[in-house]
Formats: sequence, C-alpha cells, structure tokens
Amino acid sequence: MEILFRENLARIARFKTPHGEIETPTVMPVINPNLNFLDESTLRSYGVQAVITNSYIIKRNQRLNEDALRHGLHSLIKFSGPIMTDSGTFQSHVYGDIEYSNKEIVDFQKAIGSDIITILDVFTEPDESYNSARSKVIETYKRLKEIDFEDKIIAGPVQGSIYPDLRRLSAYLMSDASYLPIGGVVPLLESYRYSDLVKIIFNSKVSSDFSRPVHLFGGGHPMFFAFAVMLGVDLFDSASYIKYAKDNRLLYSEGTRALNDIREFPEWSPIHGKYTPQELLHEESEKRTRMLALHNLKSIFIEINEIKERIYENTLYNYVEEKARSHPALFKAFMSMINYDTSDYSPLSYKSPFFYYDKTSLNHPIIKRIMKFTENYISNSRHTLIISSKYWRPGVKNENVIKNIVECTDFNLLVSWNGIYIPLFLEDSYPVQQLVSSGLNDKKLEEDYLKRLKSINNDIEFYEGEHYDKRLRDYDTEKINTIAMFQFNINERFFDKSNIIKSKSTGHIRNIIEDNNIIATMRNDGYLTLSIKGAYRLLSMKPWPGLRVVVDDESGRFNANGYNVFFKFIKSFDTGIIPGNETLVVSEDDDLYAVGKAAVSGIEMYYYKSGVAVKVHEGIN
Ligand code: GUN
Repeated sequence: MEILFRENLARIARFKTPHGEIETPTVMPVINPNLNFLDESTLRSYGVQAVITNSYIIKRNQRLNEDALRHGLHSLIKFSGPIMTDSGTFQSHVYGDIEYSNKEIVDFQKAIGSDIITILDVFTEPDESYNSARSKVIETYKRLKEIDFEDKIIAGPVQGSIYPDLRRLSAYLMSDASYLPIGGVVPLLESYRYSDLVKIIFNSKVSSDFSRPVHLFGGGHPMFFAFAVMLGVDLFDSASYIKYAKDNRLLYSEGTRALNDIREFPEWSPIHGKYTPQELLHEESEKRTRMLALHNLKSIFIEINEIKERIYENTLYNYVEEKARSHPALFKAFMSMINYDTSDYSPLSYKSPFFYYDKTSLNHPIIKRIMKFTENYISNSRHTLIISSKYWRPGVKNENVIKNIVECTDFNLLVSWNGIYIPLFLEDSYPVQQLVSSGLNDKKLEEDYLKRLKSINNDIEFYEGEHYDKRLRDYDTEKINTIAMFQFNINERFFDKSNIIKSKSTGHIRNIIEDNNIIATMRNDGYLTLSIKGAYRLLSMKPWPGLRVVVDDESGRFNANGYNVFFKFIKSFDTGIIPGNETLVVSEDDDLYAVGKAAVSGIEMYYYKSGVAVKVHEGIN
C-alpha cells in the first residue's frame, strides 16, 4: 500500500493489481457469476473500481467452470478492472464441508486469472470456544503456508472469533499473505454486534503488517463503514446492495428503510424522478430489484466518498462521533472504540479545528496525548498553579495577571480547558488554539482529573489573585521550551538565550534565533519547525534512536541536498516518531543528513515499502 492521506489508523491509500490500481477506502460489489445484471459502465459510473465474486460457485458449475478456464474470469464476469475471488469458506460456514481442498480452489483461482486470490480459510463463529477458534486460526495459517504465491496477491483471512488475543495472533501470522481480510464477522454484522466488531478490527489491525490492504469480509452496510475505516479497514465487499434490494429494502448511510414505508426517494437516489415508491412497488420484480440495487450502490459510494473527504480534512473522528448517534448499536461501538488508545498513530496536529462537544470528545487521540504530556509536565517537585477560566480561556486572557504569574514564578502552570487541565504554554498550539467548543464541561470529570494530577504532584493549587514581584523568567522563552518538551518528548530546555522574533501584525512568535542563526520557526499550528541548526541540537539532546530514521549512504547523499526520504531506503527508525512531527534523518553512525516531517508514525514506519517516509525541509548541504 502506498499512503496518500491519513488520520490515525484511517488512510487513503492505493495498491496495484494485475488489472489496475485500487484506491482505498472502497467497496467491492459482490457479483453473482450466474446473474450479472449490472454492466461494467454502470458499475464504474457509481465509483466501483473492483468487484468480488466467488470462485467456488464458478468451479462447481460446469458451464461457468469451462467458460472461466477457457476465456478467463474477466470475460466471464464482463469486468475489465481488478476482480477478487473468494474461496468457498463462507459456503462451508453455511452449508457444511465443501468438496475442494485449499490447494484445488487456489489453483483454480490462479487458472482463471483472479487478481486477488483467497485461500480456503476456516470460518470461526462468534460463539465458538476459545480452543476450537484457536485451532482454526492455526489451520488457516497452515493453509496459507501450503500455497505457492507465484507473485500473486494472496488474501489470507484473519480469524479468531471474538477473542482479542486470537485475532492478534491470527493477524500477525496471516501478515505473511499479501492481503488481509478480516473473516468470521458476518454473524456479528447481521446482528448489529458492532462493539464486538470494533474489538475484533482493532486487535486485528494493530497486530498486522500495515502495508497490507485490510478488508472487512461481508461488511457491506454503509452505516458501519466510517467506524471500520477509522480502525484501519481499507476495503469492504457488499452483497447487501443486491440482497436488500431483493427484500424491497433501501440502504442509507444511517440505516435501512423498507420501500413500503417511505414517502419519497431522496434527491441523490438514481430512482428519484423516475418512480415514486408506490409506482416502484407495483413495477415487475426484476425491474424493481434493479432500481433498488442501484439506489443501494449509490448510497454505499456516497458514504465512501464522504469518508474519504473526512480523512482528507482530518475530521473522520468527528464524523464517527456524529454517526454514533444514528443507532444505539453504533453508539455502543463508539463507546467501546474510545477505550482504545490510538494516540501513538495520531499526527501532531490536524488540518481542521478540534470540535469539543462534551466529555466524550476528550477521548480523541490528540487529547489523550496532551493529557499524558500534562502528567509528565507536572511530575517534578515544583509548585503547580492552575489558572481558572476567570483569568484565561482559549484566545482570551487577563494579560497582566498571566504575565505576572509566568514571569515572576517558576511554577508549573496549568489552565482549565474543556473540563481537563493542560499546560498554559500550549495556549498557541493545536488543538488549544484551533478549538470550536460547546463549553459544556463535565464537573465530575474535572474533579477526577484533578485528583489524578494530585496523585502525581501533590503541590497543586488554584491561582487566587496573588501578585508576585520578582521577575525570574521570560514568557515566550517558557512557551517555546514547553512546546519543545511536548513535541520532542524531552525534559530539558531546548532553547537558551534565544532571540524571539514575532510577527508585527499578529504578535505571534515566528522565528527563534541564536547567534544570528535561525534555530526554529513557529508553524501555523503552534508547533516548531527546526532548521538544520536546530536539528543538530535535537540530535545532541535526544539519545539514539530518538526521533530518527536511519538511511543508507546513498539515500543520505540525496537527503543532505534536501530530497525526501523514501520508505525503501530506511534501515531503522524510532518507534516513537509522530506523524507530521520533526524527524531527524541520520546515517548508521548517527551523523545528520537532514530534517523533515514524518509521514507516518514510528509504529507503521517499518511496514511501508513505497512512497515518502520523511518530507525533508532542510538538508545539511
Ligand atoms: N465471507 C464472509 N466471511 C468470510 C470468511 O470468514 N472467509 C471467507 N473466505 N469469506 C468470507
């Protein structure tokens, strides 16, 4: 996979298949090889890039079998783009054992020219015992290992029922495959057990090879797409667009409606203006099914497009937060999702403002990261003062009071912010500075958080209007040093006797200069960009491998001249790297080549092989 855009575990990415590239997230409509009633140009006009069909159904039907072997799968299905084939596992789940072995069904998929070939995995049921699920996970892995890949894209489904550790084990093992469907989840999807799905997807994803496309098998209803994508799913297949149509039911991004119950088709529906619901009900069944299937397909791709836009503007989390209210089962899924800490995958800042609705918004990964920092920031022996909203609110402060406290004390200074406490000095940094808040703080949560902070540093008080008179320190120097502490995860002061240049129009810090050299500049999101001089300082302050990627000499020569670092040249790296944060590009002897911004987190760095890993902004030459 090559990543184009990302928001935590969600990504817009692409990968190659023999019949063309696929850009994800996307949905593969299920095509019935017996009854293919949507032609390629119709499918494409809805946004379809790839389809999925079942090799087992083709193999056991003599006519289809011969046709596919003679003319190829693409001719049989009449689709010229990428086609994935499933193996018959689902049929064995529904009807019992099937008559082909793993090898036979995989060889057949190869012979008919499938683009993504699925092994015959062993389906694990949600109510299966642990031991039984475990042996199916192992058997599925054995079946993967008996396959000769021959440069083909081989899908190795992740199984493991609802057991988190089995999903992790399976995802780790199956990462030997080139493509990772998450299997055994259809019964959960059908019974709206979305919170179990969250658990399964999260555990599968974090133990998998991040360069693999991840597919949710059977996850064809648009109401759950955003949740799955947020947890790192790239592809879905959908039989639902046709299954629901046969049932006279319509898919919407928030749920399902019966044709019987609706008054009008929405404007976006391909049925709108052609039929009223009443007229369609009286239309002959084949025609009606076709129209409803088109509506459902449209609904699916509208949702996928919205999700992609959300990833691009970094608001997928907000979208999921919104969608959580469309069904109690989704709300439960959201509440279980926020228990997982994904702050290690979170970028330093987001393109869009931070939306604070209520205390649940504080589960956003960027807030989790700031809360961890706050706890670290006060874990010293200094007095800690909390400045209430009477003196400080985002963008509004009593200048004289704040200046007096900052310059005349050496206290840790916190401010009250949306029901938690955070360092005052992050006041110009994301998300404090780019905030849209309801202002509905939770008093109980605030009290609990204070207790938590007191367990770390007992010497905490609220500011009560005292005046201090001895000037000890400089406001802006404290600010840039605290930002550096947060950004570079250091406990020492990064800047010393710096000359801080501010913008004449906004009064914001712009450049930080020492001995006539720019050390750093302030980004619009209130974080620092290091110059090469600044990078040398970071290198000397952070012990190896902190915030580094190590590249070979050949790449290093280019990077030293300001060219980007590509994944394939990386030899090692720090797993603590934060996407969008300053990253040092060094040689194996820890000599600096360049400084730039990481494209992905340090946890993901290992897996990707194509694309830009570090966007270099200055090389040593
Ligand atoms: N289709 C729906 N679920 C599954 C699964 O677990 N494995 C395979 N191969 N196909 C599926």
